[in-house]
Amino acid sequence: MKVVVTAGPTREHLDPVRFLSNPSTGKMGFAIAEAASKAGYETVLITGPVTLKTPARLRRIDVVSAREMLKFAMSEMTDDSVFIATAAVADFRPMRCAEKKLKKASMGSVIRLVKNPDILKSIRRKYKGAKLVGFAAETNDVLSEASRKCREKGLEFIVANDVTLNGAGFGTDTNKVFFVYPNGAIIEQKMMTKKALAKKIIHAVFHT
Ligand code: CTP
Repeated sequence: MKVVVTAGPTREHLDPVRFLSNPSTGKMGFAIAEAASKAGYETVLITGPVTLKTPARLRRIDVVSAREMLKFAMSEMTDDSVFIATAAVADFRPMRCAEKKLKKASMGSVIRLVKNPDILKSIRRKYKGAKLVGFAAETNDVLSEASRKCREKGLEFIVANDVTLNGAGFGTDTNKVFFVYPNGAIIEQKMMTKKALAKKIIHAVFHT
């Protein structure tokens, strides 16, 4: 059984020195990949730019943009694999990326954006038999938003958290989440380390 994990942020470049991104550090995704490989599953970790060390016994693929992450996710997945999407994928990218650094005098004040592909939805469309798990980092309507995403993306379950809570946001070593299922079931988890939560998620994927 193979487990493919996406982690970290993506960067969407405007030119070689400027990009759109977010504060994801990759900690949750790396912890999940480590838990999967320790549990004995073949594990592939596809990560945006982060500063974390690669856990033992897994294959790591470094990417920058959402479209690159999509390309590797599509080629690593199979119908009987598990896909765990922890990456904070940038929803939009600049319409054009300049080859050379833009001069501010020539830039103006508007950047035209286009939508990035939804990696989870693309995986679901192509790999109908695969088990998919998503993450929803929300600031409001946490459970209803998570529930909507779980159904729309065809997930086994989604891990939802309120990023405004202390100890549950970007870059922390702990998290406080709910597992939200497509049939409406919700399981509240207590605050725990990302490493402990990672083990619980791997257990929930394979044993429920
Ligand atoms: N996701 C993805 N590809 C994207 C955007 C999100 O695979 N282009 C995945 C994330 O890795 C996460 C889940 O979808 O597992 C939910 O991400 P989120 O950013 O909360 O979802 P969006 O669909 O972007 O929802 P919205 O912007 O409406 O909150």
